[in-house]
Amino acid sequence: MRTITHEIEFTEVPLHELNEIEKTLYDKALDASQKAYAPYSRFHVGAAALLENGQIVTGCNQENAAYPSGLCAERVTLFAAAANYPDTPVEALAIIACQNGQIKEQISPCGACCQVLIETETRFDRPIKIMLCGKEQVRILSSSRMLLPFSFTSNDL
Ligand code: THU
Repeated sequence: MRTITHEIEFTEVPLHELNEIEKTLYDKALDASQKAYAPYSRFHVGAAALLENGQIVTGCNQENAAYPSGLCAERVTLFAAAANYPDTPVEALAIIACQNGQIKEQISPCGACCQVLIETETRFDRPIKIMLCGKEQVRILSSSRMLLPFSFTSNDL
C-alpha cells in the first residue's frame, strides 16, 4: 500500500493587483452575472473567456423549470466560444457569482464544467488560466486540471 498526495497551487490576488486584462475579465464576468437567467436559484453566475485572438466571450447561467435542462455559466461561455471560434484556443476564464446583489466568495466550477474546461485544454493543447473571482480577492490557477485532477479524458476511452 502507498499513499499518494496531490497538491494544487494557486495565487490569491487582491483586486487592485490584477493586471489590465485580468481586471477586464473580472468586470466582464461580473457584467455577465447580471444577465443570468436564474429565477429558481437566484444564484447569478457570470463567466468571461479570453481567447487567443483577444476576443472575450461571456456567459451566465441559464436555468429551466425542468431543473437539469439548465446550464452553468462556465459551460454556456465555453460552448459559445467554441461555437463561434472553433479554432481559437481559450487562454483564461474568469468566474464570479452574485446572490442578493452581493458578490459571493470565490466559487469553483462544478465537476461537469471542469470536465468541459479540461476537454477545451486538451482540444487546443493549451492550459486555461482560471480566475475564481471574489469580492476582494481573486484566486488564480494556471490550469483547470488543478480543479479536477481525476478527470475523465479521451485516454480513458
Ligand atoms: N452555477 C453556475 O453557473 N456555475 C457554477 O460554478 C456553480 C453553479 C449555477 C447553476 C445554477 O443555475 C445555479 O448556479 C445554482 O446552482
